[in-house]
Amino acid sequence: MSLMNDKIQELEARRSKVSLGGGEKAIEKQKAMGKLTARERIEALLDEGSFYEFDMFVKHDGREFGMLDKELASDGVVVGTGKINGQPVAIFAQDFTVVGGSLGLAHAREITKVMDFAMKMKMPLIGINDSGGARIQEGVNALAGYGEIFLRNTQASGVIPQISVILGPCAGGAVYSPALTDFVFVVDGVSKMFITGPDVIKTVLGEEIGQEELGGARVHAEITGNAHFFAESESECFLQIRKLISMIPPSNTEPAEVIPTQLPEAKYDMASIVPADPTIPYDVRDVVKAIVDESDFLEVMELFAANIVVGFGRVGGQTVGFVCNQPLVLAGVLDCDSSDKAARFIRFCDAFNIPIVTLEDLPGYLPGVDQEHMGVIRHGAKMLYAYSEASVPKITVILRKAYGGGYIAMNSRHLGADFVYAWPTAEIAVMGAEGAANIVFRKEILAAEDPEAMRKQKIAEYKEKFANPYVAAGKGYVDTVIKPSETREYVLMSLAASLKKEEPTPKKKHGIPPF
Ligand code: HXC
Repeated sequence: MSLMNDKIQELEARRSKVSLGGGEKAIEKQKAMGKLTARERIEALLDEGSFYEFDMFVKHDGREFGMLDKELASDGVVVGTGKINGQPVAIFAQDFTVVGGSLGLAHAREITKVMDFAMKMKMPLIGINDSGGARIQEGVNALAGYGEIFLRNTQASGVIPQISVILGPCAGGAVYSPALTDFVFVVDGVSKMFITGPDVIKTVLGEEIGQEELGGARVHAEITGNAHFFAESESECFLQIRKLISMIPPSNTEPAEVIPTQLPEAKYDMASIVPADPTIPYDVRDVVKAIVDESDFLEVMELFAANIVVGFGRVGGQTVGFVCNQPLVLAGVLDCDSSDKAARFIRFCDAFNIPIVTLEDLPGYLPGVDQEHMGVIRHGAKMLYAYSEASVPKITVILRKAYGGGYIAMNSRHLGADFVYAWPTAEIAVMGAEGAANIVFRKEILAAEDPEAMRKQKIAEYKEKFANPYVAAGKGYVDTVIKPSETREYVLMSLAASLKKEEPTPKKKHGIPPF
């Protein structure tokens, strides 16, 4: 056998040893938890055969607590590059079979290297997290590793899309790095996220709590808002990621792929979706589906703050971000969580040059002590800031109610909307006619012989005067009043008209959003 063959055989042996991660027993344990291995996950997510691994032979730096004698395959993380729908991506996947996927310094350096690669090559970064966080045995070196990742997450923010997938019990840095990224994916029964795990809670507080209850997938998709996409299985999660990648740009210097225009499905008939009576709810996602190509809408944070709907769709082949009040939930009011959700989405769209379409139908902000004490002023201000700051094309369609602060906040002309359209059913006023009549005409109503008849008369007067789109259109705050059936056409025209939009912004290092 030639020397070359010997060398090749040695390489193959090394490759297959590393590919076994923490070994067969550890893999069995991983499978018993219903999880794929790190390499299987990458294979399942990327285009078939497209993955090329880097840093397979990296050695760990641990010295203490018996670590010196341990061989840790690739120091517990698989990194490299591959493709999704033919588009290059950079990827890392932590390997729980190797010391619980914990992060030592060499492990961290593999991640920061692939992050730097993604930034240089301007491709999305996907991180599959399955890790107990900083490797306890490595002490401050492990903490240093996470710090270097956080720094890069922040520097990459707004330059390349960063996607985090939580596929195991993730603690400490393994959740803080994802929290700095743009989209977090979780899988029911598999994903757990916490800063301090159940063991620490038991030690410090003496309280027993299960991983699922503390930070399972549903907790983060529905309650905390840490997760943006929820799936029932790893394979469903990978399909969601592939879909998202197809919709968003690979970096802030390139657009998302433009695909040939398709019509929305005929079953989404705009004229019949929204009841003219402003008290009757409907699903605003049906309105979105009547606008977007093929009625294909990718909703983001579907289970969190459902009173606002955000997500991506294509109009005329071009990716657009939608921000919509949802009359089905809490009548579509704005509150702390929905403001946070919308603000963050708007900033993503703005950073990646994705035009924003706002569909408006809301009675205003949610009143109450709870909201005030949770800081609705501070949270609501985030959304005002995000819309005002965004320089991408901004299109608003007022479907029905646009009352009070809600009218201003939902991308009004006054916050810099480029196009504002209203349906004939739009009511643009400081508040609803009933509330307004009760306050403004209280004395006349009380003094009347028949107060109820007087109340009705005053409500009708107020409606006649203000509960329509024509007062705002008369002042140019609304550009024109359109038929519901004309909505897609007007959105298409607005997008085409704003292809070269430029908006001067004052010179500054950066603003100070009300985080
Ligand atoms: C070293 C770790 C580890 C860690 C897990 N392991 N986490 N080893 N450092 N951080 C090891 C375990 O010892 C075990 O090894 C194997 O991984 C599997 O872990 P189990 O505990 O058996 O699994 P499970 O019961 O599913 O629990 C998973 C877990 C738990 C919830 C993640 O292991 C845990 O609480 N780990 C510690 C979490 C933590 O506090 N990390 C530090 C965070 S500080 P064996 O050999 O027994 O199989 C941090 C700094 C950044 O990350 C902070 C940001 C601001």
